[in-house]
Amino acid sequence: MDYEHLSENELIEKIIAAKQRYGEDLIILGHHYQRGQIVKLSDFVGDSFGLSEKAATSKAKNIVFCGVRFMAESAAILAKKNQKVYHPDPDAGCPMADMANMEQVQLAWNKITKATNQKIIPVTYMNSTAELKAFCGLMDGIVCTSSNAEKVFQWAYERGSKIFFFPDEHLGRNTGKKFKIHQDQMLLWDPHGEKMAEDKEIKSAKLILWRGHCPVHMEFKLRDVKHVRKQFPGCKVVVHPECEQEVVDASDANGSTDFIVKYVSALEPGSIVFVGTEVNLVTRLQKLNPDKKVFKLQRSLCLTMYQINLSNLAHTLDNLDKLETVNLTQETIENAKTALDRMLNLNKTSLPNSRTELTSD
Ligand code: 13P
Ligand code: SF4
Repeated sequence: MDYEHLSENELIEKIIAAKQRYGEDLIILGHHYQRGQIVKLSDFVGDSFGLSEKAATSKAKNIVFCGVRFMAESAAILAKKNQKVYHPDPDAGCPMADMANMEQVQLAWNKITKATNQKIIPVTYMNSTAELKAFCGLMDGIVCTSSNAEKVFQWAYERGSKIFFFPDEHLGRNTGKKFKIHQDQMLLWDPHGEKMAEDKEIKSAKLILWRGHCPVHMEFKLRDVKHVRKQFPGCKVVVHPECEQEVVDASDANGSTDFIVKYVSALEPGSIVFVGTEVNLVTRLQKLNPDKKVFKLQRSLCLTMYQINLSNLAHTLDNLDKLETVNLTQETIENAKTALDRMLNLNKTSLPNSRTELTSD
């Protein structure tokens, strides 16, 4: 059947019918950046941390993940043996995750660990390949998301004197700043650079940052924050920590997508707020908060999140018995799970899991 040519209503009917057919044997997980139609049909919507937790605890036999590839892979790593994880568009990757591959990270690791005897803890952002998570599992490292980066850095600095963080320079820099690490102690590792960092630079660094970024969050600039503050004195600005440090510093608050949802919802009725994150989430926040004026700081769309749509979701649900599941080697799953479990266990402690600055003015 050609799902691409079915009408929106026909596709929605098919998805609802499949959900009824499978009942408790199916869960649809959706990231906050998914289109509104997908969010409405998802059984659980959250940030990448919340979704990984849900994948780890769900009892459904079939998990359909509406998000980008690294998220579906993480669900497959955390799933039990009797569960299958499907991704409606296996080509929907994350450009940031693609900025670091195993070969490049291994090369950097060899150079860094040769330059110093000090213990280095590798920390990979959730937005990375399963192989890099497995590498961290093997090397006494850990995974973090934007909702728990501070807590993960704390964990890492209790075990080593340096962190090697990949692939998002900006989340790393923004988190390092919270630990009062001076810019001079943050070394930027450029996998495409002409010359490698020197041993003495590696020795004096507390935080080694991979040169990678999110194209969606690089769209938000300091001039945007300055502009809206001038136009709307007293307005609030909330951004994702994948934004550049100067943007994060100029904002009232920053945090994961889930944090942003809660931040906007907790504002006083009548508040004006500018949100620096993916446009599908901002559009939804506008609808969810009719008592506030919610604006985009800029219009920025994640094209690969947008690749998931009603037709590939309906097609997936109608063909669960025929389609390939998210497929990783057993060795990758085991080692990546070690690193993910370290993160999930950390979040069971009582520390807050988001950066909150609800009262800053
Ligand atoms: P969250 O972990 O905040 O959901 O972010 C994931 C992401 O890809 C942001 O660009
Ligand atoms: Fe990747 Fe950025 Fe899209 Fe998030 S918003 S999935 S980091 S490209």
